[in-house]
Amino acid sequence: MLLGVNIDHIATLREARKINDPDPLEAVFIAKRAGADQITLHLREDRRHMHDSDIKRIRESSFLPLNVECSINPQIIDFLLEVAPHRITLVPENRAEVTTEGGLDVIGNFDRIAEITQSFRGKGIEVSLFIDTQLDQICASKEVGAQMIEIHTGAYANLHLMLNSNLPRTHHSIESLNLPKEELKVALRDSIESLQNAAKEAKWLGLEVAAGHGLNYVNLAPVLSIVEIGELNIGQSIIARAIFSGLENAIKEMAKLIKG
Ligand code: PXP
Repeated sequence: MLLGVNIDHIATLREARKINDPDPLEAVFIAKRAGADQITLHLREDRRHMHDSDIKRIRESSFLPLNVECSINPQIIDFLLEVAPHRITLVPENRAEVTTEGGLDVIGNFDRIAEITQSFRGKGIEVSLFIDTQLDQICASKEVGAQMIEIHTGAYANLHLMLNSNLPRTHHSIESLNLPKEELKVALRDSIESLQNAAKEAKWLGLEVAAGHGLNYVNLAPVLSIVEIGELNIGQSIIARAIFSGLENAIKEMAKLIKG
């Protein structure tokens, strides 16, 4: 199983001050040393984290394949055709969302996605589509000419959080999942089954299969056991863990400079 590390949130932290630190490019070298197989990032229409110049610098300097997530917005597509990352992953995008909320509607945007796919594949750039587990969307992904799908694991991750963490007791509790434990357990089992079926169907159709969104250190095991999935793209949980596993060293270094 390959690991794509999504480094968007390094840029999120940089944008909190609008300076040049932390630099996502530095994370690329650390990710390579740490065993990542790919760098994944999302060029959002509102440029809330990654900017065009980040994509260019990372494309030029990275020793790892670069997978850029993007919407079907014409300006972004033209820019990425020029930059030519190793892969693009088309995702739905909604300005007001905190993160990508659902999968791409391939059926509803069939002609546009087919056109984009053809342009990128014509330049030797892989195309992946970020979709939910519906089988008709998987078939459409094949018909549209994509080589790969990335299955959205967000619904599974949300159920896992509501069942196995303190999220329901925080202000970020997911209202629609405020259900009795037994119901959550059934829904969680169903969501794993949907992931399994989607991965099987896609592989059977000849698509490569990735998965991602909301995956973390405690919810990974059922996804890892799906043999058809060849790659996981993980971001927020890695960056969140890095804040705590690296914070002690950062404070020690500063204290040493101050106190000698
Ligand atoms: N894959 C896709 C297509 C995404 O949109 C995201 C979030 O940007 C991820 C993977 C990574 O999700 P997370 O940050 O929750 O691990």
